[in-house]
Order: sequence, then structure tokens, then C-alpha cells
Amino acid sequence: MDLIEVKVLKMKELALSKDLIKKVHKAAGCKSPKASVKEALEEWLAQQPRDWSDHSPTTSPFIDVRQSPIHGTGIYAAMDIPKGTKIIEYVGEKLTKKQADKRWEEHCALVEQDKSLGGVYLFQLNKKYDIDGHVPWNTARFINHSCDPNCETDIAKGHIWISSIRDIKKGEELFYNYGYGWEEFEDHPCLCGSYRCVGYILNEDMWPKLFKWLRKTSKPFKKR
Ligand SMILES: C[S@@+](CC[C@H](N)C(=O)[O-])C[C@H]1O[C@@H](n2cnc3c(N)ncnc32)[C@H](O)[C@@H]1O
Ligand SMILES: [Zn+2]
Repeated sequence: MDLIEVKVLKMKELALSKDLIKKVHKAAGCKSPKASVKEALEEWLAQQPRDWSDHSPTTSPFIDVRQSPIHGTGIYAAMDIPKGTKIIEYVGEKLTKKQADKRWEEHCALVEQDKSLGGVYLFQLNKKYDIDGHVPWNTARFINHSCDPNCETDIAKGHIWISSIRDIKKGEELFYNYGYGWEEFEDHPCLCGSYRCVGYILNEDMWPKLFKWLRKTSKPFKKR
């Protein structure tokens, strides 16, 4: 590699990191425009978690939102993300267990009429409250399911996070396992296309039961 090539590469690197710094500053609402990416990320993380009454759409310097080949809109890594990073908070309406039970029943009644409706977005937060993530300000609701996920949901200090379970490369789509139960999986075929895909959106604990069921019902095992 000659000197000019090295200079061009260095300039490209510089332009890339300037873009990244701008993006991180914007998402973080970073006060000091001279701060580095690391400082801006730290500032953003220090502002979390957000207040439940804040209904402005959530954002994160780690994500891009765009069309997914798997389903509708998806969320992508805007930069390399190390394992164990809290990527974005999963927010929503905070419901008492009684309110959440009512919402679940209403949703089941709707699904009875239209099987294509998605699963309910209820998350158990603690013994007292559940979170309904089906609200326009919850950007994390766009994260699709995969049978080979790179993220998981994580509860810390009364808030739900989408966290990376392995190092993720810039541009990869983010996924977690939705953990649907046995009662509902048959209405939710999985299109994740990963080498581990079991053909349905189903909690991994249930996979042995699924394989037995597939053998018994002689349903073809979907391998893409
Ligand atoms: C929480 S939304 C995910 C965001 C969705 N892409 C959108 O644009 O609204 C959940 C719905 O996305 C679809 N979905 C997510 N992951 C999927 C997958 N691996 N295979 C098939 N459909 C999926 C299902 O219809 C599911 O009910
Ligand atoms: Zn799958």
C-alpha cells in the first residue's frame, strides 16, 4: 500500500468517525459538541432510564430504524455493539396486573376473530406491574424475533432493556426471542431464516416439545 492509499484510508476513517460522533451527539442530546463518541455514549447512558410519563419516541445512538426483509420495520445496529450493552429501553404503558389481565382478554378476543394479529406486547415488569409496549413512543417494538437472536430483554431496577448477548457488527439486524408460549405459537410462523430457525415464534424452552409435536403431527420441519 503506498502513501496516498494510506492517506485516503485515513481520511475515510476520519469522515466515518465524524458522522458517528454527530449521530451519537444527536441521539444523546449531548451538551458538549466537542465530546468524543465514548463521552457522548456515556452521557446518553447516564440519562437513562426514562420517565414513564415521557411519551416522546425513544431513540438510541446504537440503532437505525428501517425496512426489514423478515417483517415490516426492523431495527439495525448503527455501529459495532459489544456484548452486554444496554441498547435501548423497552418502554410502554405501565399497567397494574388487573389492567394487564383485562388487556390480555381483550386482545385474545380480537385474535379469535383475526388470527393474523400479532401477539400482545405485554411484559412482566414485577409482581405489581406489566408494561404494554404497543405504544407509538416505544421504538424497541420494531425489533423482530429470531430463533438465533443477538439480543435479549433484561429487567434492571424496574426498567426493561434490550441488551446485546454477543458482539454485534454495524448493519446487523437486532433480534430477541419473543418467547411466545405453547398456546399461541401455531398462529405465528417464523421467517427469521437463521440456521437455527424452528419455523415458529416460540420460547426456546419449548423447542423439545415442538420437535416431538412436529414428529407426531408429521408437519414438515421448515429449513430455509
Ligand atoms: C413487535 S412487531 C415487530 C416489528 C414489526 N416488524 C413491525 O413492523 O411492526 C411483532 C410482529 O412482527 C412480525 N414478526 C417479527 N419477527 C418475525 C419473524 N421472525 N417471522 C415472522 N414474523 C415476524 C410478527 O407479525 C409479529 O407479530
Ligand atoms: Zn426462526
